[in-house]
Amino acid sequence: AAGPVQLTIDAGKPGPMINKNVYGQFAEHLGTGIYEGMWVGPKSKIPNTKGWRNDVVGALKKLHVPLVRWPGGCFADEYHWKDGIGPREKRPVKVNTNWGGVEENNAVGTHEFFDLIDLLGADAYVNGNLGSGSVQEMSEWLEYLTSDSKSTLANARRKNGRNEPFKVAYFAIGNEAWGCGGNMTPAYYTDLYKNYYNLMKAPADKRPKFIASGGNDYDTTWTDTLSRELKGRTDAISFHYYTIPTGKWDVKGAATGFAENEWISTVANTLKLDGMIKNNVAKLDKNDPEKKIGLYVDEWGTWYDVEKGTNAGFLFQQNTIRDAVVAALNFNMFHEHAERVQMTNIAQMVNVLQSMIITEKDKMLLTPTYHAYSMYVPFQGATTLPVKLENNAAYTLGAASVPGISASAARGKDGKTYLALVNTNPGKAADVVINVAGKQVNAVSGSVLTADKMDAHNTFKNAQAVKPAPFSARAAGGKLTVAVPAKSVIVLSVEG
Ligand code: AHR
Repeated sequence: AAGPVQLTIDAGKPGPMINKNVYGQFAEHLGTGIYEGMWVGPKSKIPNTKGWRNDVVGALKKLHVPLVRWPGGCFADEYHWKDGIGPREKRPVKVNTNWGGVEENNAVGTHEFFDLIDLLGADAYVNGNLGSGSVQEMSEWLEYLTSDSKSTLANARRKNGRNEPFKVAYFAIGNEAWGCGGNMTPAYYTDLYKNYYNLMKAPADKRPKFIASGGNDYDTTWTDTLSRELKGRTDAISFHYYTIPTGKWDVKGAATGFAENEWISTVANTLKLDGMIKNNVAKLDKNDPEKKIGLYVDEWGTWYDVEKGTNAGFLFQQNTIRDAVVAALNFNMFHEHAERVQMTNIAQMVNVLQSMIITEKDKMLLTPTYHAYSMYVPFQGATTLPVKLENNAAYTLGAASVPGISASAARGKDGKTYLALVNTNPGKAADVVINVAGKQVNAVSGSVLTADKMDAHNTFKNAQAVKPAPFSARAAGGKLTVAVPAKSVIVLSVEG
């Protein structure tokens, strides 16, 4: 298509709100995601508060992290919460069988996690152990967390330093029950869920929202079964999807040094999530027309081959401008489905998979994905506005083809109109003419994230290689055109 892309924001037809939890995070006991990356312990020389690194917490606070999911992941179904309370030196040492077979000394347990939650000013999403735990173990955890009584468990919490009950905003019953969480069928898990759920007691005002562990990829049987069977018993069904460049788990593709065919396949594979969400929403609309059940994409992100020389079980990978583009494409899709997709959690917060932050001893760096999150902060709690794209040329390579521009708009909590643009093409800029129906647009301003190379990334030698730069444009001759650089993410506020 010759000529510029025509973009129209329909400011007069606001849609659903973008729940701030769409920008949620996931921190699992996996590799150096928690230990080293965030938790160094109170005696460490690395500046910390109650054991949590000040530098990392400070950077995360700037993202307005709305909630953190913990302790897994696959780890959650092997986690026994009583191992993680009481004096740290007395806690048992376990083996983290999912992730590298390393020792897990349980230094981070319930109280430490809630210290992090308090430091971040975030909500807590606790993932319970259905796979190798028991109804009793899980219900006792909830009592320990939420009871205001003088029960032995509530008093144990007080003895361990926390007088008031913790605020548990969300609680999941199991994780990936189809896989590491127990290799179950949807019907078997559904029965187990009912059993667990019925015995999960908490004071009415402290009761968390409950999450049933759902399906992944193109499998909708979990959403279908759970939304039919668990009416009134669940607030949400989770869903997982990872972006793998090759689409194959054995050789996934490298985080850096990849060719353009793996750039476009990564973009194309990420965009598949839109269809997957639609398929799941169709099941929800059929079984839950009252719209009481949310679809929480509580694991998503890029998953590459691990970096050479690192523990294969630690899932450590570099993070490039491609990851920022992937993140922004996901955000735009989540906004599109804001009605049902009320929470998402990128995997994972620090040092694991598509992380915000990479650490090395006492140093840390912000990844391009971090910058995408920081640019999108105004979308947290904003109200979606419909966007129409016309003359949007495809970006094509061989047989692969994806839309050149992805866009999303919303009215922020501050009343301003925000527009996000992503150029998926790594080699070609695109002109986008901005129209706001019924309104004159005079100027846009905000920031742009782009880079010279497809795998541009930040290193400890050059931690500022990929970072946002100010961006603005003014109308000329009654038209406002934004020149969107190749492989870029732009977030702008639109001024009338
Ligand atoms: O995020 C890494 C792992 O991916 C999680 O532990 C698991 O739930 C998923 O398979």
